Amino acid sequence: MKGIILAGGRGTRLAPFTRLIKKELLPVYNKPLIYYPLMTLRNSGIDDVILVSDPYNIHAFLDVIGEGEDLGMRIRYAIQNRQLGIADAIMQAKIFFEEGEPVAVILGDNIFTENFKEAVKEFSKGACIAVTQVSDPERFGVVSMEGDRVVKIIEKPEKPESNWAAVGFYVYDGTVFKRIEKLVPSARGEYEITDVNNQYLQEGSLKCAKMKGEWFDAGTFDSLLSASNYFGSKK
Ligand code: G1P
Repeated sequence: MKGIILAGGRGTRLAPFTRLIKKELLPVYNKPLIYYPLMTLRNSGIDDVILVSDPYNIHAFLDVIGEGEDLGMRIRYAIQNRQLGIADAIMQAKIFFEEGEPVAVILGDNIFTENFKEAVKEFSKGACIAVTQVSDPERFGVVSMEGDRVVKIIEKPEKPESNWAAVGFYVYDGTVFKRIEKLVPSARGEYEITDVNNQYLQEGSLKCAKMKGEWFDAGTFDSLLSASNYFGSKK
């Protein structure tokens, strides 16, 4: 399975650094942030990766991770010209996929201490999203479950019905690109990944993988520091 790694956001919560350096190239302990999701993909059995970023930063990623030669991976690049959200970013990688080919997606600022080998190996069709319990679900896509069955997923609800958040790892079957084409922008002006997940949910083909390990959504100073401290203490 090929992976898409998304590194095209504005990084506004990490300004002023992100005015000069792309968020995913900021340090998490002793490595640029982007190494962590790349390693999660590699440890999940995915070594063929398309990195999506804005046209101004592709060269910076090329300087740091190149075409993946030092990591034992193949990294190719796709440009997202407009910052219109996760689903729009996924769409920019479409040309690298054959018709019907499944897709793993990881957000470039998400750090996991576990891999998704099982979820990737067992995937056949539909969609599978990683979820974990958080104390601030209103910041995320929130999943309501009955047992292990997903019954609802809402993007950043004011009154979350559960504390299960959709985190930044998703596996989709080859219908994902057609589904994205049907989307309309949300109130925040983005093509939402939650709207894609809802299409699968309505057809009864959305599964979730409950995480066991740590997760850092390293888009804020606090989470960046927590992640650095975590990896610094493990050395
Ligand atoms: C995005 C997704 C959200 C998901 C989160 C995980 O939110 O829209 O569903 O829970 O990533 O990090 P954003 O980072 O765009 O606010």
